[in-house]
Amino acid sequence: MVDAKAAASAAWDTEHQEVHGGQTWRLCDSFVEDFSVTTNAFGAPAKAMQEAQAALAQIHHYPAADCKDAIRDLAEFMRWPENRLLVGNGASEFIDLVMRAGPAGSFQPGPYDAAYMEYNRAAVAAGRSVMKHDDPATPAITVVIHPNSPTGHCMSLQDIERRAQLAKQTSSLLVLDESFMPFFGPDWHAHSALSLIDKYPETVIVINSWTKLWSCPGLRLGSVACGEQWYKTFKKLQTPWSCNTLAQAFCSAAARDTGYMERTWNTLPGWKQRQQELLVKLGWTVNEQSPLWVPWVFVDCGSADAAEQAAAVAQEVGCPVRWCASFGTPRNLRLGIRAPEHQDVLQAAWEKAFGIVSPETSVPASVTKAAGVSCLEDASQPASTSCKVAANGVH
Ligand SMILES: Cc1ncc(COP(=O)(O)O)c(C=O)c1O
Repeated sequence: MVDAKAAASAAWDTEHQEVHGGQTWRLCDSFVEDFSVTTNAFGAPAKAMQEAQAALAQIHHYPAADCKDAIRDLAEFMRWPENRLLVGNGASEFIDLVMRAGPAGSFQPGPYDAAYMEYNRAAVAAGRSVMKHDDPATPAITVVIHPNSPTGHCMSLQDIERRAQLAKQTSSLLVLDESFMPFFGPDWHAHSALSLIDKYPETVIVINSWTKLWSCPGLRLGSVACGEQWYKTFKKLQTPWSCNTLAQAFCSAAARDTGYMERTWNTLPGWKQRQQELLVKLGWTVNEQSPLWVPWVFVDCGSADAAEQAAAVAQEVGCPVRWCASFGTPRNLRLGIRAPEHQDVLQAAWEKAFGIVSPETSVPASVTKAAGVSCLEDASQPASTSCKVAANGVH
């Protein structure tokens, strides 16, 4: 059996880097689907892929330094002025930039028990201290992930505005990470903090990762929308050509692909509902405060042991999930929303491993074998004692 824990950490230098999902699929003997990331289940939009492929013919030229076409089309999609929008090498580039350029002082992550950790890494690398999420002291920079990964909570715009007012009074910076907001539906703009930037131009900035919505983490594409002063600051500090020729072409086409967005909005909430129902059958608890449009499920397996075992089974069956130990919530898994046939592969393996008898789901022999799980015959035993699986480090 693969020692997934060792292999997963081998991809990361944990002394200097933050561990992310999206690496362990490489370790699967027979990969099925990656549940460890929250990219769009439909994969990259076909037209955007074609444009990126066509742009390969131009890679002997430098990319457009002003990213003109990509910014124009993305700005139209976001309904945001193009002269205050920058694109770059994933949201990660702007996460790093914000921590280097923001007001001096400590960083506080949003008000949730667990939140996307790359901000912590960037803050520490920039010499900042990281406050606890419930520390009442005033930070120099607050980041709210909207909606929050991994928990799936989504703050109202009114709550965000209250935080913006407070941040303005204390001259601190409020960063909204809206990487998943466009999954909301056609009206996503009405719920986006983009609408607060003009009211609080020195206080509020919005970062987006487009690698999730348009499923292109290997290509890298992110943006920052902000007031004029912040725009100038970020532009001065940004590495030239960080958004490459392929990514610019891809961005332009993806931003114009309305059919892809319709399919996303119309389909994924139903798939999430289905995934949640399957998880409940296992006796696990899903975060029901996470709306159906948020493209992942945050699930409590009842114990850290059960969550770790579940992650190991998923890895062995070719469907890696994100065990949330590295977020500080080891009882939880985060599952990206995936197509029903892939949900069924994972569910069958889990039902088998955890001794759940389900009339509807049968486990193909190949899956049982691949899972490498040895279960005692007595299915009435609690999962943690009835099955033995290898430890897994899917963080
Ligand atoms: C909330 C959030 N923001 C930013 C990122 C980084 O995205 P990118 O791949 O665009 O750098 C991620 C990736 O997982 C994320 O979950």
